[in-house]
Amino acid sequence: MFRICRSTVMLRKTLSYGTTCWKTLNSQCCAVLVTQVKHTTEKLLPLPCRCYHSTIWNLPCLVTGGTVQHHGDAGSGFVMKREVVDEKQFCEQLSHLSSSKDIFKLVGSLEVLSDSMVALALQRVSQIEMQEDSGLKKPLEVFENDVFKALCFQFEQDSQKVSTTGLVRALRALVELYVDPWSTLIVRLVSESQERLDKGHMSIPDLCMLGESMLNLEGPDCAMLLQIMERVQEKKLEDWTPEEIAMVYTLLQSGVGEGGRYQSLLNQLNDFTVTMASKLSPKLLSKVLHALVVLNQTQSIPLVISLSKHSVRHVSRFTDIELESVLGALIHFGHSDRFFTEALERRVSKASFTMHPEAVSKAIQYCSRRLILSRPIFDAVAESFVYNTDKFNTSQITRQIMPFGKLNYLPPNSTTLFRSLESVLSNRFSQFQPRALLNLLHSCTLIQRFPVNFLAKIFSPYFLQQLQAEGKGMDKFVLSQLTQLFLTVTLECPFYEGPKLLPKYRVKTFLIPGRSLETPVDLHLYNRVKTGLIDLLGARMYFASHVLTPYCYTLDVEIKLDEEGFVLSATHREEVFKRIALCIDGPKRFCANSHNLLGKEAIKQRHLRLLGYEVVQIPYFEFQALQNSDDIVAYLHKKIFPYSFRLNW
Ligand SMILES: *[C@@H]1O[C@H](CO)[C@@H](O)[C@H](O)[C@H]1NC(C)=O
Ligand SMILES: *[C@@H]1O[C@H](CO)[C@@H](O)[C@H](O)[C@H]1NC(C)=O
Ligand SMILES: *[C@@H]1O[C@H](CO)[C@@H](O)[C@H](O)[C@H]1NC(C)=O
Repeated sequence: MFRICRSTVMLRKTLSYGTTCWKTLNSQCCAVLVTQVKHTTEKLLPLPCRCYHSTIWNLPCLVTGGTVQHHGDAGSGFVMKREVVDEKQFCEQLSHLSSSKDIFKLVGSLEVLSDSMVALALQRVSQIEMQEDSGLKKPLEVFENDVFKALCFQFEQDSQKVSTTGLVRALRALVELYVDPWSTLIVRLVSESQERLDKGHMSIPDLCMLGESMLNLEGPDCAMLLQIMERVQEKKLEDWTPEEIAMVYTLLQSGVGEGGRYQSLLNQLNDFTVTMASKLSPKLLSKVLHALVVLNQTQSIPLVISLSKHSVRHVSRFTDIELESVLGALIHFGHSDRFFTEALERRVSKASFTMHPEAVSKAIQYCSRRLILSRPIFDAVAESFVYNTDKFNTSQITRQIMPFGKLNYLPPNSTTLFRSLESVLSNRFSQFQPRALLNLLHSCTLIQRFPVNFLAKIFSPYFLQQLQAEGKGMDKFVLSQLTQLFLTVTLECPFYEGPKLLPKYRVKTFLIPGRSLETPVDLHLYNRVKTGLIDLLGARMYFASHVLTPYCYTLDVEIKLDEEGFVLSATHREEVFKRIALCIDGPKRFCANSHNLLGKEAIKQRHLRLLGYEVVQIPYFEFQALQNSDDIVAYLHKKIFPYSFRLNW
C-alpha cells in the first residue's frame, strides 16, 4: 500500500535525488535542502492517508475498500475496468495542465491513485520541464515541491511493490528530469527493474520505456540494455500492436540502433510493418517514417512506399509536426506519390499562412526534390512568404525560395515575392550561412532575378574565404556556381560594376560527375537525333557532338554555317558565320510530368543565345511523336533551317 502520510515519518532516512548531497538529514546537507525537508514534514502531516494501489500486487486498499487485481485474475473485472477509465481520464486531465505546480496540486488532491498514474503525472512534469528548460538547468522548482518529494520517497521505499509499468514510467520521468543517477532513488528503481527484467515478465511498452532510460543513463553498450533488446527479440512479431511497433522503432531510433545495430530485428520489423501499415494511426505513421529516416533504412523502400500510400488519407489530419516527419521521410528517401501530392496541395493551399514554417518549407522541398512543379503549392508558399517572412529562419527562407529557381517557375506575385526576399537579405544578410546564401542567390539568377548588390558581396575575398572555411575547401560544384554567377552578371547585368571573380575560382566546364549545373544529354534520344541529322545533312562530318564551349557549357550538338548559310564541316575553324547549338532535351531536363524546363537548362539556353549561338531546342516530347525517319528529317529541317525550303548542299 502506498500512503503519502507514511512518507513524512520516513522522509528523514534517505532522500537523495536532485542533488548528490541529500543523504540523511543528520549528515551534512545543503542548508537550503534542510529547510525544505522540514517544510515538507510540516506540510505533509495534515494530508489524509492516500492509497496508491498497484496493479500487480493484491493489496488491500484503504480508500476504495476493494481489491486490486492480479494480472489474469478475472475475479472482479469491475475494479480493473474502473481503473482503466480512471487512468484514461487522468491522462486527459494531465494533458490540459501546463505547469508542474498544477500537476502536483492535482495529484495532491486525488483520493486514489495507482502507482502508474503517479508515474504518468511525473512523466507529464518531465515533459513540461523539458519544453521549458531545454535541458539546460535542473528543474529546481520541481525538486523542491513537497508532493514531488513525497512521491519520490514513496517510490524509493516501495520500489518492490509498485507495478512494473509504474516502475519504468517513474524511472523514465526521473531520468528525464535529471535526477542524480547515483541517488538511492534511481539506483533502487534500476535494480528493481533489473529484477523484473530477469523474471522475464515485461511487456514491450515496459521494455521500451526501460530501454530508453538505460540508454540515457548508461549508453548503448549497457548490459541491461542488451538484455532488454534480447527480450524484445524474443517476442513474437505477429502479436505486436501498432503502438508497440512504433515504440520499438522509437527506441532503436533514439540511439539503440546506431551504427547498424539490430539491423536484423529492423529488417523483420520493416517487413512486418508493411503488413500493418493500414492499421497505423497518423501519429504512428509519422513516428515510424521519422525513425526510418534516422535509422537510414534505405533498403526498406517498400515500407516507405506503403506508409506514404497510407499517409494520403491523413494529410489533412496530420499535425504540422507529424506532416514534417512524413515529408522529411519522403524527401530523405526520394519518394513521391501523386495522390499524396494532391492531398498536400489541398492542405498547403488552404493553410500555408498558418502552417508551421518548417512544415511549409518541407512541403515545397518535397516538390523540389522530386521536381514536381505544383502550382498550388508554389503559389501558396510564395504568398505566405510575403506575409510570414519574419517568422522564417534563414534555412527556411533558403529552402522556400530555391525551388522556384530549380523548377524555373515564377509565381503570379513574383515581384512582391522577390521584393520581400530582397528586404530579408538586406536585414539579415550576415545571418545566412555562406553556402546557403550562394545557393539562394544562384537559384534566383536561374529565373532572371538578379540581386546585384548581394552578388557583389559574393565575389568579395572576404565571402570567398568564409565559403572555404565553412566546408572542406571549395568543391567543384561551389566553384561552378560561382563561375556561373559571374558569367550571369557579365552577360545579363551589364550595369554590374562590382568585383570580378578571380580566375583561380573559375571552372572550365559546368559538366561534372554527380551534381552538375548541366544535365548530361539523354543518350537514347541523342542517338535517334544523330541518325536523323546524318540523314538531313548528308554526313556525320557536318556536326560535332558534346562540344565544350569556352563559356563552360557543353553543347549536345553544334552545327556551323558560313555567311551564305551553307553548313561547314565540324572541323572548320575559319569563316564560321553562325553556330547552331542543338539542345537535345530529354525528360530529365524538365520538371516531372510537365513541359517546363528546369532552371539550370533555362539559364543555359538563355546564356547560349546571349553568347551568339542560335539555340534550337529538340524536346523529347516532340521528338517522340515522330513516326519514321522521313518525319524525323522533316522535323529537324523545320527546326534547324526554318527559312530554307530546299536542302541543296
Ligand atoms: C544512408 O544510406 C545510404 C545507402 O545505404 C548511404 O549512401 C548514405 O550515406 C547513408 N546516409 C547516412 C546519413 O548515413
Ligand atoms: C531553422 O528552424 C528549424 C526548425 O525549427 C531548425 O531545425 C533549423 O536548425 C533552423 N535553422 C537555422 C539556420 O536557424
Ligand atoms: C497577388 O496577385 C493577385 C492577382 O494578380 C492580386 O489580387 C493580389 O493582391 C496579389 N497579392 C499581393 C500580396 O500582391
